[in-house]
Amino acid sequence: MSQLEAVLAHIDADQPQALERLFALLRIESISTDPAYAESCREAAEWLVRDLSTLGIEAGTRDTPGHPMVVGHGQGPGPHLLFYGHYDVQPVDPLDLWTRPPFDPVLEEREHGPVIRARGASDDKGQLMTFIEACRAWKAVTGALPARISVLLEGEEESGSPSLVPFLQANADELKTDLALVCDTGMFDARTPMITTALRGLVGEELTITGADRDLHSGIYGSAVINPIRVLARLLAGLHDDDGRVTLPGFYDGVRDPSPELRAQWQALDFDEAAFLGDVGLSVPAGEKGYPVLEQISVRPTCEFNGIWGGYTGAGFKTVLPSQASAKVSFRLVAGQDPERIRESFRDTIRAGLPADCSVEFHPHGGAPATVLPTDDPAFQAARRALSDEWENEAVFMGMGGSIPIVGHFQNILGLNSLLIGFGLKDDNLHAPNEKYDLRSFHKGTRSWARVLAALAG
Ligand code: BES
Ligand code: ZN
Repeated sequence: MSQLEAVLAHIDADQPQALERLFALLRIESISTDPAYAESCREAAEWLVRDLSTLGIEAGTRDTPGHPMVVGHGQGPGPHLLFYGHYDVQPVDPLDLWTRPPFDPVLEEREHGPVIRARGASDDKGQLMTFIEACRAWKAVTGALPARISVLLEGEEESGSPSLVPFLQANADELKTDLALVCDTGMFDARTPMITTALRGLVGEELTITGADRDLHSGIYGSAVINPIRVLARLLAGLHDDDGRVTLPGFYDGVRDPSPELRAQWQALDFDEAAFLGDVGLSVPAGEKGYPVLEQISVRPTCEFNGIWGGYTGAGFKTVLPSQASAKVSFRLVAGQDPERIRESFRDTIRAGLPADCSVEFHPHGGAPATVLPTDDPAFQAARRALSDEWENEAVFMGMGGSIPIVGHFQNILGLNSLLIGFGLKDDNLHAPNEKYDLRSFHKGTRSWARVLAALAG
């Protein structure tokens, strides 16, 4: 039996214990955006420090102005790898849509096999534990890690990573390695592993439009007095044209269509648009006309409204003419787009469309450019082969619609290329009620990392 085979066999035999460890981490309510959970975030960080030290990775928490980072270093042969994951999770609301308490993980039997149900099961605790479990198995079987491994685990990823850039800058020497490994992405489908080769950037904006200097009775003042909800609705509706294109001046400057070669590769994947929409109860693509859905969700820039409020939204009814209306708007960016130029174009457009007597205030919520990873790095080919050995189908290279700003920071601050490998599936309910992670993702994900580490170590 080869060393790798022995490691894989160990992973199979250790599944129940691995699951127990993941459940222990999932029980910690590490919601980063809500200050009420700050202690739980620290608890999760400390749990990880303890767990890492059992596998020969000397780790500690590092304080930041926000939640602590976990940093650890383990000795080993070959290349120096930096693993990144995040231990924080999204809030659980709306809680009443959960079928179980979000921080009481269980294994549920489903048609397609067992799933781990809990907040963070997929994003990102289950995923980061696939890597840690692979290291544990290597250590148990061979007495050592398969490569020199450093670890950086963040606790603010789901709340915009405010401490990340200063931390990377201050600790650049310590964190500079040969390659970053990131486990926070998904598979192409349940049988096809994926190496994510591009991520979209993100610009977040919150705006509040104010009309009259107080709320008013809509029977006494209505129609004569400007209604900020009406203004906001008109301005937001104007951000897309009838073909689903974003109307901001300069929005598409620098955006290019994928090469014919890439398009041919994606064509071969046979992405099922009807099933993609059908799975969430829909049938008609609502995005930019002329682009297939697969491109709309991965390589095209977007403008989405994430929240809108104003006036009376409680139970019953109230004939109020509100003084203010607000919205949260986000733009997903692709290569070639500059976040700050998009932000300015958005603000200019809103200001220009504002009627008399209205004012607007903007509040920024982070901005990060898109990232494209150089796939000619030999590590990409080695990892692709390793993944293909584990799963039914060959691994694919593919751009992804989500955003992981740290990958850009690794490039710019540490000069570090990242290998993005993850085992999440589209139906994991990320950021939503009833988040889950397939047991198969957890198990085969761990086996995949064991193989990838062997491949990278040469
Ligand atoms: N793990 C996700 C990113 C992701 C989502 C990767 C789906 C692959 C598939 C990550 O935790 C996340 O949600 N990131 C945020 C960005 C952040 C700046 C709030 C996102 O993409 O919205
Ligand atoms: Zn994540």
